[in-house]
Amino acid sequence: MKSMRLKARLSLAFFLVVSVMFAIISYAANGLLANQFKNYAIDKQNQRIVAFADLFASRYVDWGNRWDPAGIESIGVSALSEGWLIRLKDQDGQILWDAQVHNHGMCSLMLANNAERMQSQIENFQGGYTEQTQTLTVGAATVGWLDIGFYGPYSYSEVDLAFLKRLNQLLLIAAALSMAIAAILGLVIARQLTDPITRAIQTTRRIANGHYTDRITEEKGPRELAELTSSINSLAESLGRQETMRKQLTSDVAHELRTPLAVLQSHLEAMIDGTWRADQKRLESCHGEVVRISSLVKDLEKLTQIEQGNLNLHKETVDLKALLQRIGLNFQRDFASKNVQLSIQVDPIVVQGDTDKLSQVFINLIANALKYTNPGGSVHVVSQMADSQVIISIKDTGIGIAPEDQTQIFERFYRADKSRARETGGSGIGLAIVKSIVEAHGGRVTVDSQPGQGSTFQVTLPLK
Ligand SMILES: Nc1ncnc2c1ncn2[C@@H]1O[C@H](COP(=O)(O)OP(=O)(O)OP(=O)(O)O)[C@@H](O)[C@H]1O
Ligand SMILES: [Mg+2]
Repeated sequence: MKSMRLKARLSLAFFLVVSVMFAIISYAANGLLANQFKNYAIDKQNQRIVAFADLFASRYVDWGNRWDPAGIESIGVSALSEGWLIRLKDQDGQILWDAQVHNHGMCSLMLANNAERMQSQIENFQGGYTEQTQTLTVGAATVGWLDIGFYGPYSYSEVDLAFLKRLNQLLLIAAALSMAIAAILGLVIARQLTDPITRAIQTTRRIANGHYTDRITEEKGPRELAELTSSINSLAESLGRQETMRKQLTSDVAHELRTPLAVLQSHLEAMIDGTWRADQKRLESCHGEVVRISSLVKDLEKLTQIEQGNLNLHKETVDLKALLQRIGLNFQRDFASKNVQLSIQVDPIVVQGDTDKLSQVFINLIANALKYTNPGGSVHVVSQMADSQVIISIKDTGIGIAPEDQTQIFERFYRADKSRARETGGSGIGLAIVKSIVEAHGGRVTVDSQPGQGSTFQVTLPLK
């Protein structure tokens, strides 16, 4: 049952429900019918008894107000053939004709037949010989008595039985038909439900095999299925995105490594074949390239670590004011030696977050602000509350960022001014790390900058 297919399970359930329903209905119908039929049989029986009494009374008149033995016998014999045991008495109680006397064997046979018929139809039928007496009257005068014996309390004739049998057959046919219809309907309904699922599974398999652009396009099926397919589609989308990111990263890394490696290679070759002398200046330049490569590799490691670690943040209560003041303290000497002013004015604000990662965010942003601000400039860090979020702004009076660069600086390895970045030693990963951490905290980071005037980076974090 566990590994049974949904289609089979649904059809079976449908079939079972219909069968049980039918069983209940036919059981109830059968009971009702049996009861009705019994009442009908008793009614018919009473009518027959009255009709016999009427017949004898009217014949009495026909025979000239007397009992005609031959006439009585002919009625009695024909009644006996239908199972009625007649005994007729005149007004003095004198027996004129008695079926038991006339043909005792026939009477016993009739009763036995009836008993057998009833017992074959109704289990444990309690019946036996029953007698009713009718007073025969003509006008106001009593002309005799009629004792009618029969198998009682009631009995069914052959015709009645045939009718009952036919009814039961019809019920059986209806049962078979409705079960067949239930099975077919169950299959159809199950199909409607499972076919889209089967198709969705096929597409999911293709997606799993790397066809990230495939999408499930099911319009039919229940709403839960639509929800399932849409989440599978977005899964495919994010898989696709990650795949592109991965490819992008590989090509970015290759690209970033190519230049310093090429410089290193040509310098070393020149020195080996004697074109250049391996003097201190040249060796230092080679060393510089090696340092750049190793710092790039270190940054890359950090980026990977952070992107992986963001899946698993160690959230705790972080006091932003204390955090930023601590960072400011660590930067004091760097700012002083470059003659850039640093001011931190942050309200006591508490957020839920990963302390180490949030520190990394502000360290990167403040380091950038210092790096891209000329001596004599200043950097301000301020906080601001808005609704259920907090905004930390890092504002510098530095060189600013051209509008066309502003959208790209958060990308890995993107540097607005490559030659300058070369001097300052950055690899363009700092802001990518910032963005990744902030977004993992449910926040966002934006930039607003005027070239030549300065830049403002805003980190927005949710308070709850
Ligand atoms: N405060 C700023 N003022 C002007 N330009 C900036 C500022 N912050 C970032 N940028 C520009 O955005 C680019 C990307 O910054 P990012 O921090 O990602 O890399 P980086 O500082 O060059 O290198 P690193 O990986 O060492 O941080 C920088 O190269 C710079 O051109
Ligand atoms: Mg940086």
